[in-house]
Amino acid sequence: MIAIGCDHGGFALKKEIIQYLNDNHIEFKDFGTDSEASVNYAPIAAAVGHSVANGECEKGILICGTGIGMSMAANKVKGIRAACCSDHFSAKFTRLHNDANILCMGGRVIGPGVAVELVDLFLHTEFEGGRHAVRIAQIADIENGKL
Ligand code: RB5
Repeated sequence: MIAIGCDHGGFALKKEIIQYLNDNHIEFKDFGTDSEASVNYAPIAAAVGHSVANGECEKGILICGTGIGMSMAANKVKGIRAACCSDHFSAKFTRLHNDANILCMGGRVIGPGVAVELVDLFLHTEFEGGRHAVRIAQIADIENGKL
């Protein structure tokens, strides 16, 4: 199950991503928003973040105007590694090396063609582990006040 959410700045792009998820028979849970009306992004980032952190959803996708506010907010949830990406290399390597569990994108930054390919890479690239697992553990150490 994939968690997905957006604010008004990401609503149009979220519809395109949902089309991709439906076309590929990928189950998702939509945490809103449901229109172009202005909303605050942090509560939506929190809802998606908690759903991934508590295991209800395997990964998440968050979209706002830039992708930046959503990533800042989602990364405040313990256990979340949200990556704001607008290129293929970053989307691939944030899975390989960072084990990112939420992909953030900017609806005012990239078009639907690139965005769908980033989602596809994000959903289908496995974490490499090894030395990168040590580094992920150190990120958790920061959350736990050990670093
Ligand atoms: C909303 O205007 C915009 O600030 C928001 O979508 C996002 O880009 C924030 O980071």
